[in-house]
Amino acid sequence: MIKKCLFPVAGYGTRFLPATKSMPKEMLPVVNKPLVQYGVEEAIAAGMDQMAMVTGRGKRAITDHFDISYELEHQIAGTSKEIYLDSIRGVLDQASFTMTRQREMKGLGHAILTGETLIGNEPFGVILSDDLCLNDGESVLQQMVNLYKQFRCSIVAIQEVPKEEVYKYGVISGEALKDGLYRVDDMVEKPSVEEAPSNLAIIGRYILTPDIFDIIRDTAPGKGGEVQLTDALLKQAKNGCVMAYKFEGKRFDCGSVDGFVEATNYVYENIYKHSIN
Ligand code: UTP
Repeated sequence: MIKKCLFPVAGYGTRFLPATKSMPKEMLPVVNKPLVQYGVEEAIAAGMDQMAMVTGRGKRAITDHFDISYELEHQIAGTSKEIYLDSIRGVLDQASFTMTRQREMKGLGHAILTGETLIGNEPFGVILSDDLCLNDGESVLQQMVNLYKQFRCSIVAIQEVPKEEVYKYGVISGEALKDGLYRVDDMVEKPSVEEAPSNLAIIGRYILTPDIFDIIRDTAPGKGGEVQLTDALLKQAKNGCVMAYKFEGKRFDCGSVDGFVEATNYVYENIYKHSIN
């Protein structure tokens, strides 16, 4: 039902400098696979087959990753090394990729609006690939698609975080409809402990309805001078409905060095080692 997934991948990734000086942070490998490929695989697992990427200057490696590499593939065709390309070939067979560029990095809300041309007038998924989500059962995005079928409104994924970390996130409050599901009534971007309406933090998975584009167009720059998706979602929540869903599964903040190292250890021990034995 939801076929398109938007990947805002234009950010500077300053927390990972100098690694991200000339390399996109979304291409940082967790063991042997770039972050953005984990995201695309999650979208495919949720039934989406059209990947829309909002890139920027210095991000060409992402575009190249989701294309064939003729010379390399020709070199290793028929050799024992060909298996190393299996996962990316599988991805390319199952999805199409379209790209547009965000010329000025004016924030996540602005990046989403830049993607409008690729999405059009239909509900869509959003993955921030520096949040790596892993679980045994249904992917986080699949769990959210299931909810969308029921509620037909925008949905944000949330996670409980320690109070002293709320300043890193958009934070919601809302009426609990059932275990782990809230109807949002307030949302604050990167609040102080005192300002935070709860410790329920938004992480990088969304299902958005396309009216969000007009709302973002009317949203002035907020925290940090950036056009904040959180501000637009609050308006959508006030005028209609936004749900927040405490997902099942693990999430690693791979935009930070600590989260990235934790993800690498986890994937190596629990996924990679089993895949080579
Ligand atoms: P972040 O703030 O986590 O990413 O934005 P960043 O700016 O790249 O990282 P730091 O803080 O400098 O280390 C969340 C997501 O939104 C995208 C980023 O690429 C990331 O996936 N983004 C952010 C854009 O695409 N465009 C923007 O203008 C801002």
